[in-house]
Amino acid sequence: MKKNFIILASGNGSNALNLINKFYTDKNGCGDIEIAAVVSNIADAPVIEKVKKTAPDISIFVIPFTVLSERDAFEKELGDIIKKYKVDYIILAGFMKILSKEFVSKFPYQIINIHPSLLPAFKGREAIKKAFEYGVKYTGVTVHYVTSEIDAGPIICQEIVGIDDSDTVGTLEAKIHKTEHKIYPVAIEIALTGADPRRRVI
Ligand code: GAR
Repeated sequence: MKKNFIILASGNGSNALNLINKFYTDKNGCGDIEIAAVVSNIADAPVIEKVKKTAPDISIFVIPFTVLSERDAFEKELGDIIKKYKVDYIILAGFMKILSKEFVSKFPYQIINIHPSLLPAFKGREAIKKAFEYGVKYTGVTVHYVTSEIDAGPIICQEIVGIDDSDTVGTLEAKIHKTEHKIYPVAIEIALTGADPRRRVI
């Protein structure tokens, strides 16, 4: 049965665009997924123009949310969009705000996030820079379900990215993004199978 997705993004939008290209623009074998809308909390986020250009018939909503006091209003409006489009999965693709515990608890195993480190290492913001500055030799990407604990929900899949002596934060970031674009669509397809994420490897 067709599943409706909504994508939440705050910034550049490379992951949002990658998912749109995979599941919307190029529907090869992905007919079970409908990207119903894209929501951004930042009015001038580059993701908005990119989505308009790539997929003009996907609805885009901008709901301001930069400070905590705006979160209730953001979640109320987001809840209305979720109802309107009968959304099954909420996909966080570079969404840089924290949803409330109350909101998250309404959607168990329905909110999915991508994080640019091998969780549980380097949680929170600037994970790529933190891993680089720590000097780890391997970092990576994690796709996980969102729970009320930040960057700690059940892991759907992970992939390792090595850090070479010649890397800079910039080159590492590029490697991480390449890996994100590879594994996020795969992780979403795994999630759709309903498999127990704690047992899943790719
Ligand atoms: C991605 O690297 C994603 O993993 C990260 O933000 C970037 C967004 O890039 N997300 C987080 O750090 C969430 N804690 P994009 O806008 O080009 O998709």
